[in-house]
Amino acid sequence: MLTVDAINVYYGAIHALNDVSLEVQQGEIVSIIGSNGAGKSTLLRTISGLLRPRTGTISFLGTSLPDVSPDHIVRLGISHSPEGRRIFTNMSVMENLQLGAFIRRDGEIQKDMDMVMGRFPRLRERIKQSAGTLSGGEQQMLAIGRALMSRPKVVLLDEPSLGLAPNLVTEIFNIILDINKDGVTVVVVEQNAHRALEIAHRAYVLETGTIVLSGAGKDLLHNPKVKEAYLGG
Ligand SMILES: Nc1ncnc2c1ncn2[C@@H]1O[C@H](COP(=O)(O)OP(=O)(O)OP(=O)(O)O)[C@@H](O)[C@H]1O
Ligand SMILES: [Mg+2]
Repeated sequence: MLTVDAINVYYGAIHALNDVSLEVQQGEIVSIIGSNGAGKSTLLRTISGLLRPRTGTISFLGTSLPDVSPDHIVRLGISHSPEGRRIFTNMSVMENLQLGAFIRRDGEIQKDMDMVMGRFPRLRERIKQSAGTLSGGEQQMLAIGRALMSRPKVVLLDEPSLGLAPNLVTEIFNIILDINKDGVTVVVVEQNAHRALEIAHRAYVLETGTIVLSGAGKDLLHNPKVKEAYLGG
């Protein structure tokens, strides 16, 4: 449903993505693992239209994404939970969730708000609290919940487990599995390679802007090169 074909992305003179290609099928969880600076966030930002590839193509259900605006990309069904959460700290939990539905004019926003709070009961308890006073884990839940409020076909999650305690990491990965079971396709970028490969149908390894390996998540989990470089040997 989403095809990235040989994209090259630059920040000025820095060549951040080098001929990157990947394919995401409807219903999949696709993980992208790689070290700091590998280009993981750049890849998600390019898919969601915040950056443009200098060459190469990205197509989603027949539309060439680099030819349309970022909010059109949200309307097409791709929602991005950015790295570092990027929630609006001065606004309440509820206002942040409402912003996630900014593209919608239908009458079911409240229903989806209930769905998100059902998935994240801690957010329900804190619905009027200002988002900046949430704990790191709660802010991550809010960022994912906000991404779900546009009723996406695909969610792009940038490091959802970053900085969280192990029990919360488990909770977040279980939520990702639940979201996927409900029919949402997931592309997740992670430095927590072990968890990301465990939940992935397929995965890609990105090294300094180049895809160096790809395969079934379980196969990569047992791949000697992946073990040595990303799973602590
Ligand atoms: N706004 C920017 N201007 C210039 N260079 C940038 C910019 N953003 C990223 N880069 C560079 O592009 C490369 C890829 O960065 P990116 O943020 O995509 O990496 P990442 O894989 O997400 O890393 P991390 O795991 O640390 O989040 C890095 O070398 C980075 O320094
Ligand atoms: Mg990043």
